[in-house]
Amino acid sequence: MKKPVLIAAGVAVVALAGTLLLKKDDEASVAAAAGSALVAVKVPALGDEALKGEALFNDNCASCHGKNAAGRDGNGPPLVHKIYEPNHHADGSFYLAAMRGVRAHHWPFGDMPPVEGIREDQVASIVTYVRTLQRENGIF
Ligand code: HEC
Repeated sequence: MKKPVLIAAGVAVVALAGTLLLKKDDEASVAAAAGSALVAVKVPALGDEALKGEALFNDNCASCHGKNAAGRDGNGPPLVHKIYEPNHHADGSFYLAAMRGVRAHHWPFGDMPPVEGIREDQVASIVTYVRTLQRENGIF
């Protein structure tokens, strides 16, 4: 009489442990996907101006647009993307975006807030950096 009960209890424990382990795995994979790059970006050798832009980009933009402007899952779009080629988004759109923010219209990430304290000359370096990355990746 006791044995089947014990076996049943044992099966239940194993099943529960399995469920917990699986759940943990799922959460880990979701965490890995959130924040990951959205496109593959080839990074060329960068000149002085682009290097300055890279540092400024990493400090002010990469939290949403990702390292190398490759996008960040859950946060913001890649700027190394056909949508942002110079003919569609001229350099002026970078200044406007940084100074005034952007209302969401191409992507499901929500609005971009203005970037506090950023200066025009800094945006100029960032534009040089992003255009360098775009050209290397066939976007021009
Ligand atoms: C808090 C997140 C966030 C930060 C920080 C951020 N952006 Fe954005 N940005 C976005 C999102 C989201 C969009 C896409 C809006 C849409 O079109 O749906 C966007 C769009 C843009 C666009 C396209 C503008 C247009 O006219 O469509 C440019 C250019 C841009 N960002 C540049 C920058 C630069 C440069 C920085 C840093 C100085 C920066 N962003 C920092 C979230 C961010």
